[in-house]
Amino acid sequence: MEIIRTVDELRRWSRALRREAQVGTREDIGLVPTLGALHDGHASLIRAARSRCRNVAVSIFVNPTQFGPNEDYSRYPRTFAADCALAEAEGVGVIFAPSVEEIYPEGSATFVDVEALSARLDGKTRAGHFRGVATVVAKLFVAAEPDLAFFGQKDAAQIAVLRRMITDLRLATELVVCPIVREPDGLAMSSRNVYLSAAERAKALSLSRAVRQVETLVARGERRASALIAAADKIFATEPSIRVEYIEVVDWKTLEPVENAASGTLFAVAAWVGETRLIDNTIIA
Ligand code: PAJ
Repeated sequence: MEIIRTVDELRRWSRALRREAQVGTREDIGLVPTLGALHDGHASLIRAARSRCRNVAVSIFVNPTQFGPNEDYSRYPRTFAADCALAEAEGVGVIFAPSVEEIYPEGSATFVDVEALSARLDGKTRAGHFRGVATVVAKLFVAAEPDLAFFGQKDAAQIAVLRRMITDLRLATELVVCPIVREPDGLAMSSRNVYLSAAERAKALSLSRAVRQVETLVARGERRASALIAAADKIFATEPSIRVEYIEVVDWKTLEPVENAASGTLFAVAAWVGETRLIDNTIIA
């Protein structure tokens, strides 16, 4: 496994593979963008990438522009050696681990702003977050020129923003969405789960409970967004120490609220457990 630090080197890697391209059922290049602190959720993306692409690059970059001034950029877990071991065991060909200056050269003034969508869901409270995400992902796509890029449904609003960006910029990369990987008790895996104390870890289960409850109601035929939100509210009411940031039923493409859930509707929650912000969701089939 090769560790690449510069955009030029990553581009050379990608273009060399492209020249050797073979005829076959798998794509040449798959990219798995991450912030590092890899867990089984990331590993599932890597496995999906390996199954569909002959060559897989994982980017590990704690992207400063997607963190707000009072967010956890400086304390975000950085576990590079363990990340490399996980990636190597999963058969990754390349780790792309650039410096901040490599991605944002001095004087950087170019950003990708996906309007409207970026102000919904997480974007309501995390101003600039999706601008940072879209910008770094665009830079990664320009550098690696992947055929496929793999993202988790865990960050469902991020997917909506990136799909819009791919369409608008007519990018040649196809986005592949992978299911949410959960701990045995239901908690969605997240690099931020390490922030939780044992007591908070137990309370955090309210998010996956709310998601499961909504799935159950939908399976029983409930479609009214108001009823789904009320059911989730009721679950959070049993954990008053949790601060709910949003409970939303939206069109997964536009992130606009819908009155009735239908196929492709996103039910999403964000909540603070102590100092930790967690998210979870389900897509109505
Ligand atoms: P990060 O939070 O490291 O997540 C990287 C990818 O792993 C994302 O696509 C995310 O949805 C996916 N992922 C995280 N937890 C998951 C889980 N429990 N199950 C399945 N997939 C999961 O998302 C980011 O990084 C950044 O915003 C990034 C796209 C890298 C841009 O900086």
